[in-house]
Amino acid sequence: MVSFSSTHNRHIPVMLMETIDNLKIKDNGIYIDGTLGLGGHSEAILQKIDKGLLIGIDRDKDSISFAKKRLLPNENFKFFNDSYKNLKSILKELKLESVDGILLDLGLSSFQLEDNKRGFSHKFQSSLDMRFDKNSTNNTAEKIVHQNDLKELTKIFKEYGEERHAYKIAKKIKDLNDKVDVLAITSVVDQVTPFKYRLKTYSRIFQALRIATNDELNHLKFFLDNFIDLLSPQGRIVVISYHSIEDRIVKHKFKDLKHKKKINLIYKKPLIPSEEEVGLNKRARSAKMRVGEKIG
Ligand SMILES: C[S@@+](CC[C@H](N)C(=O)[O-])C[C@H]1O[C@@H](n2cnc3c(N)ncnc32)[C@H](O)[C@@H]1O
Repeated sequence: MVSFSSTHNRHIPVMLMETIDNLKIKDNGIYIDGTLGLGGHSEAILQKIDKGLLIGIDRDKDSISFAKKRLLPNENFKFFNDSYKNLKSILKELKLESVDGILLDLGLSSFQLEDNKRGFSHKFQSSLDMRFDKNSTNNTAEKIVHQNDLKELTKIFKEYGEERHAYKIAKKIKDLNDKVDVLAITSVVDQVTPFKYRLKTYSRIFQALRIATNDELNHLKFFLDNFIDLLSPQGRIVVISYHSIEDRIVKHKFKDLKHKKKINLIYKKPLIPSEEEVGLNKRARSAKMRVGEKIG
């Protein structure tokens, strides 16, 4: 477990200025931070809404606890330990019909990555958990490895990790007789990949297992199919993604909504962080931001 202060001090919200500009925040508006994390973006949103409301959502109970320490007491802030995919029921609970802006900053936070007991990082030996909500009864990454046969595991590495050696890695993992933990996965990658490509391969394989464990792409697709009715006219949606698979999903759904004349796209191409930001925060280097505005 990492401490709040160490993570808080190191955590820099990605594309913060661009996020705040593009949400076009009104001081009495209602905003959703669908991926609250440590509350970095939320903190900046709260500074702009005197009379408004911010609803922070995260699947990870620990992240919610950390964000609460940072953002409460603040009467303009409410939080939910849930998936952003359930936004409709969350708004229903609050007796709200629509909101003025939604932010999704996808993936995992530095807090989760640096937790040495959750199995998100190749750097720390631990069991292969990788659940965003570790109290849920969902599959752990270890179960994903055991429950999927060779063909399915190869597909996970290929589709979610875009890994060239997907079959070879999946085969060696399926051939393991021991418990499959972080060290077991990194040892397999070491056997299959030349030294200079190892770090990238670790990242791709861990990313693929995390996406499968949390069923991340289906949460994103479900949300994108449904958010438009929950956004007020001229309301903004801002999505920051870190992987080409996620960005492709967002791009196609936004295009589809544009053709149906439901949103305007604010930028033709995704915004990317400045060189200066990437210099300060390596995590930002693969970020892509897409922004839509509801027509109406
Ligand atoms: C990149 S971090 C967000 C960081 C945050 N913007 C900040 O500045 O502190 C992504 C967060 O989204 C959460 N998350 C991932 N998928 C989610 C989902 N479907 N619903 C809600 N939260 C989710 C993760 O648990 C993680 O805390």
